[in-house]
Amino acid sequence: MKTILVTGGAGFIGSAFVRELVLRQPETNFVVLDRLTYAGNLNNLLAVSDEPNYHFVRGDIADEAVVQQTLATYEVDIVVNFAAESHVDRSILAPGAFIQTDVVGVYALLEASLAAGIERFVQVSTDEVYGDVAEGYSTEDDAFLPNSPYSASKAGGELLVRAYHVTHGLDCVITRGSNTYGPYQYPEKLLPFFTTEAMDGRPLPLYGDGLQVRDWLHVEDHVRGIQTVMERGASGEAYNITAEQLHTNREVTQLILRTLGRPADLIRHVPDREGHDRRYAMDGRKLHDLGWRPQHVFAGDGCAATVRWYAENEWWWRPLKSGEFKQYYQEQYAARLAAAKPPGS
Ligand code: NAD
Ligand code: TYD
Repeated sequence: MKTILVTGGAGFIGSAFVRELVLRQPETNFVVLDRLTYAGNLNNLLAVSDEPNYHFVRGDIADEAVVQQTLATYEVDIVVNFAAESHVDRSILAPGAFIQTDVVGVYALLEASLAAGIERFVQVSTDEVYGDVAEGYSTEDDAFLPNSPYSASKAGGELLVRAYHVTHGLDCVITRGSNTYGPYQYPEKLLPFFTTEAMDGRPLPLYGDGLQVRDWLHVEDHVRGIQTVMERGASGEAYNITAEQLHTNREVTQLILRTLGRPADLIRHVPDREGHDRRYAMDGRKLHDLGWRPQHVFAGDGCAATVRWYAENEWWWRPLKSGEFKQYYQEQYAARLAAAKPPGS
């Protein structure tokens, strides 16, 4: 029986990976190692919490002793590292936690994985390592030009993984997924934040002109992409995971409002995010060669079904928007909204 350690498995994408695979692969053990930061949530794992092949350990990936003990106790074969500080705006306000988890944490995981002699290390990375892509599409060999503390720390973590492969022969694969959407995403990211704010009739702070372009990938497609790379990727290689569905933030906002039947005058054009990347876009052919294709269409079923999920699951997100979130909201948005331009201007 194989054992897969899923770090950060209580977050948005990691929990989707666990929910999908625990039920479909009863012959594989899944161990979640998660620190349960503000973004980690055991409600994301309720669907599998009673399954015999699911185990949960609360711990920090930067704590090498905890990682070593977990790898040994469960006789782990494969590590899939989702654990990260993941929100760009928070990395601008307080970058320390990003360096600690996304770089130092990856280093601790790599050291423990090497010592334990695991079979494969899967690093979940992001299209943001390429930085702003004014035109064309990033390929896996393109240079890294990260612009935010988040993307720079993810680039650092990824480069450490590569170095452990080259220097120590650690079997590893890297995935670079694009902007991901779906159920159970912490309501600070664009889609769940704007959806839940609009449901309450609150203003939607759209940064700058709202014409920044992102590539919208459904979480189920992202999870299948990571699984494909884990199972069939060549050691030492990185793979882009792109839905090839480029939309401006304005378009995304309009889709959300239309689905909810809420008015466009909720939109506020607020001062831009510092260092805001204008466009991300990747070439997906390398992963297509492994047989993966995205199944969801953002402007078709994808966005609307996701918005409806938040509309129908207030039990999940409403408690998350109290306490710590209120403090973050104040810091991130109060001054911006005070400086907002009225709609239409
Ligand atoms: P998330 O913020 O929802 O979840 C992160 C999880 O990691 C949480 O459960 C948190 O408790 C845990 N965690 C944080 N620090 C930890 C630590 N030191 N030790 C153990 N656990 C810790 O993030 P997500 O959106 O699910 O992203 C998962 C991964 O995918 C990240 O590595 C992110 O960089 C990458 N990614 C995300 C997107 C996206 O659009 N969300 C796109 C591409 C890549
Ligand atoms: P986000 O969901 O934070 O993902 P990322 O920064 O990783 O791409 O943001 C997606 C886009 O939406 C990004 O261009 C920033 C923009 N955005 C806003 O305009 N207003 C907001 O309040 C948020 C959270 C994001």
